[in-house]
Amino acid sequence: MLTINDIAALKQAGEKIACLTAYDASFAAIIDQVGVEVILVGDSLGMVVQSHQTTVPVTLENMVYHTQCVSRAVKRSYLVADLPFMTYSNPADAAANAARLMQQGGAHMVKLEGPRYDCISHLVEQGIPVCGHLGLLPQSIHQLGGYAVQGKLPKEAGKIQEQAIKLQEAGASMLVLECVPSGLAKLISSELTIPVIGIGAGVDTDGQVLVLYDMLGMGKRLKFCKNFMADQHSIQSAIESYFQAVKKAEFPGLDNTY
Ligand code: KIV
Repeated sequence: MLTINDIAALKQAGEKIACLTAYDASFAAIIDQVGVEVILVGDSLGMVVQSHQTTVPVTLENMVYHTQCVSRAVKRSYLVADLPFMTYSNPADAAANAARLMQQGGAHMVKLEGPRYDCISHLVEQGIPVCGHLGLLPQSIHQLGGYAVQGKLPKEAGKIQEQAIKLQEAGASMLVLECVPSGLAKLISSELTIPVIGIGAGVDTDGQVLVLYDMLGMGKRLKFCKNFMADQHSIQSAIESYFQAVKKAEFPGLDNTY
């Protein structure tokens, strides 16, 4: 079983970190066998599994259930689970809900969106490893008004950069950066000591994450995603192709980058 130290060591060694989402045992087992280091039980399941328009309706019960399904199948990968919308509106709730993802779900780390330094430091004090999430924040979609690239203006970029540093100072052990210009992601990845995992953030982050069904070509075409199933004969070989492309820094290419 990979540990948080193994993931941190990959960054230190300059080796790219591969991450994919999973929501059930069958896919999780394949991703785990291929060698993808981090599996994320993302609240994107609201869209790809439950057919909601956003991640907002996803409940803690849903996350616990899907994290259980995945954790039973995982032998080696490091397992991160999302705290869904409104389950970390204060540090005490964050701790109680993160505990359920770990104790009942089997997660090794929890992920939460936005500059929630108070919750992060409280969770870390309780021994709960935390992954931050900056840039595009899908749980705030009704406030943002759309899934646009974040940090394009210098002022916005500076704000995200400052938030990333503060998240690390609050004790986060990993950061997901979603839909930001590649130059900003490169800067943040070099400034932080914790691994930065990008999605729509260019090739210079410490690792990459994609929603499983998107990279299998099942969703609508997204600029930052590639259909790894297009030239493969099986789901396993598509995931292997993604894994190799991340490891060799061949994905994302320029046409997948903002
Ligand atoms: O929920 C999810 O799948 C995520 C990824 C897009 C990073 O948060």
